[in-house]
Amino acid sequence: MLYVLLALCLPVLSQMSSSAGPEVVFERIRNAGVITLNRPKALNALNLSMIRHIYPQLKKWEKDPETDLVVIKGAGGKAFCAGGDIRAVTDAGKTGDSLAQDFFREEYILNNAIGTFKKPYVALIEGITMGGGVGLSVHGRFRVATEKTLFAMPETAIGLFPDVGGGYFLPRLQGKLGLFLALTGFRLKGRDVQRAGVATHFVESQKVKSEQPGDRTQSLIGLQLLLHTLEKPVILTPDSSHLFCWCHRLFEASSVEGIQENLKQDGSAFAQKQAETLAKMSPASLKITFRQLQAGATMSLQDVLVMEYRLSQACMRGKDFYEGVRAVLIDKDQNPRWQPSSLKDVTEQFVDSCFAPLGEHDLKL
Ligand SMILES: *[C@@H]1O[C@H](CO)[C@@H](O)[C@H](O)[C@H]1NC(C)=O
Repeated sequence: MLYVLLALCLPVLSQMSSSAGPEVVFERIRNAGVITLNRPKALNALNLSMIRHIYPQLKKWEKDPETDLVVIKGAGGKAFCAGGDIRAVTDAGKTGDSLAQDFFREEYILNNAIGTFKKPYVALIEGITMGGGVGLSVHGRFRVATEKTLFAMPETAIGLFPDVGGGYFLPRLQGKLGLFLALTGFRLKGRDVQRAGVATHFVESQKVKSEQPGDRTQSLIGLQLLLHTLEKPVILTPDSSHLFCWCHRLFEASSVEGIQENLKQDGSAFAQKQAETLAKMSPASLKITFRQLQAGATMSLQDVLVMEYRLSQACMRGKDFYEGVRAVLIDKDQNPRWQPSSLKDVTEQFVDSCFAPLGEHDLKL
């Protein structure tokens, strides 16, 4: 089918049109709808106004008989999208502003719209692709990584959990890889992003150079090369990376404490490094995340997003999310004081309470 898409996408520049909101740009390039996240100075961090622009446009393109596919990319060349604009969210949480509910709700609704999109959805995940940026890409049919892709779900470091459907896609990666990525926030780079199954395709960066939005000739050439990549058969190199085997063994346990124990017993430099990383993360986040992935492994994307919305609101009610954002994004002292400060003090009851239904406030998809 993609051959047809490429054939349709002929270089007729006069048939292109674009409309520019400041922070996200939409273009029509023949039969493709192209979304460019356009906050390069903020590494294209996703905020509520961007979500409110993207969602209706996506729905329009889904119905439009003249749109055969949608491509999403980031402006500036450094990042696809470094995550959600969570500083604004925690500010809102402190003052009781509704942004603290609206942001997560509308973001997850957009993640679901991408996951159920009826046409090919192609995300060019060049550069930093984390958190909210993963939610804008990973649920779509095609994710194209380059050697510059830097993927991570780093939420346990800020007292949150790997949301945006992380509970759906992470446990579906090979073995315990997803749990490893979720708990440690480990960064996958370049080809490893495809080897891990996060990206479906790999292309060299220079072939799909991230151009400025509005540079139409470049956009078109980039788009054609991107589609050309998707037509090539995917050849997955056998998993050469020791990383993947290691984490299957070390992250196989029935609790976070069990994983910590495995890491201590192992004694390798890799295991020691991961144990140190886990010791810095929010203990409550680690336990929530462990349960989230365990449950999400057998749930639909929709049910996972409903669960994650409950968890997001539990984080807004707690302390660690504010403290994590303070330590990492505001004061940047990298020294969060988590409450509770150790795994043993995070009770099962507390974790249960985070998963409790919200009644009329539950997310509806
Ligand atoms: C989102 O980001 C844009 C560009 O930086 C800004 O103009 C807009 O006010 C932001 N919106 C929200 C809801 O934070």
